[in-house]
Amino acid sequence: MSVTFSGIQPSGTITLGNYLGALAHFVHYQEESHCYFCVVNQHAVTVPQDPVALKSNSRSLAALYIAAGIDPTKSTIFIQSEVPAHAQLGWILQCNAYIGELERMTQFKDKSSGKEAVSAGLLTYPPLMAADILLYGTNYVPVGEDQKQHIELTRDLALRFNKKYREIFTIPEPRIPKIGARIMSLADPTKKMSKSDENKNALISILDEPATIMKKVKRATTDSEGVVKYNKENKPGISNLLTIHSLCSNETIEALEKKYEGAGYGDFKEGVAQAIIDLLSPIQAKYKELMSSDELDSILDEGASRANRVANKMLNKVERAMGLARKRL
Ligand code: TYM
Repeated sequence: MSVTFSGIQPSGTITLGNYLGALAHFVHYQEESHCYFCVVNQHAVTVPQDPVALKSNSRSLAALYIAAGIDPTKSTIFIQSEVPAHAQLGWILQCNAYIGELERMTQFKDKSSGKEAVSAGLLTYPPLMAADILLYGTNYVPVGEDQKQHIELTRDLALRFNKKYREIFTIPEPRIPKIGARIMSLADPTKKMSKSDENKNALISILDEPATIMKKVKRATTDSEGVVKYNKENKPGISNLLTIHSLCSNETIEALEKKYEGAGYGDFKEGVAQAIIDLLSPIQAKYKELMSSDELDSILDEGASRANRVANKMLNKVERAMGLARKRL
């Protein structure tokens, strides 16, 4: 059976972009693959985090995984810092990565540009991500478009290690959805929707109330043409809303263009908002239920213990191959 691994940072409440680009797809893998879904809290601390918020966002993200349909009896759900092998293999992979290749990562360039104090962790983030993936013998990594470069680097690091020491790592493949791999900001549809956007009207949080969703979508930047037609270059705002509507309501973009032919942007936006509300309402209800039960902690305890078992075996192989273990090579 194949292995699937993915993770999301608990650096704030996740957005509709995280859901449509990644989380919604996690669910499909659990029938056909051994799945590991991780709350990557050690990645979150590459930039400053409030400790109280980080702790609560981590639990909350685990609850959202389950509310979105990840079944803890089929998939392993766990918190990264509870499996020390991630940081241990992360260090080893840092020692096999070059500063030049890390500096070329576009996410590093974006997150560090214009900042005075940039943590070393922001630069060495991709080897930690590679460790997450490689510890489990992962074949598939479902992610949005922005993670493609990190997975290419993971493949390079794995191949380099296998050549230098021993064929230990499986070479993973990114799985990027054809539609929705890059959901754009509502305020500036030329930028991706991001959890860390200071303008909260630019993003839909997965826990937003229906009235908030309606308000944010109504304010979304569009154009003055008044025609609901997909054209990414010339109509980025409308195209982004059409993509969101299509993914939320499971209708094709062509069908939606037909449905809103002759309608104004006001009616179209109401339709988009309603499709989002209909998709998120059952997830939010299940999330609230989980947050008020103590089921979540036992799921996370069990997840950490399963993940530790698998990850330690891989770490042990790696350490033996490198001469880091006292026992035989
Ligand atoms: P993160 O937490 O930024 O995002 C989580 C997932 O959501 C996707 N995503 C989007 N998809 C579509 N449209 C958007 N606007 C959008 N914004 C984010 C991301 O591509 C991602 O799949 N480095 C990763 C976390 C990570 C990881 C891993 C992922 C750490 N270790 C191992 C996979 C495997 C990150 O920062 O994702």
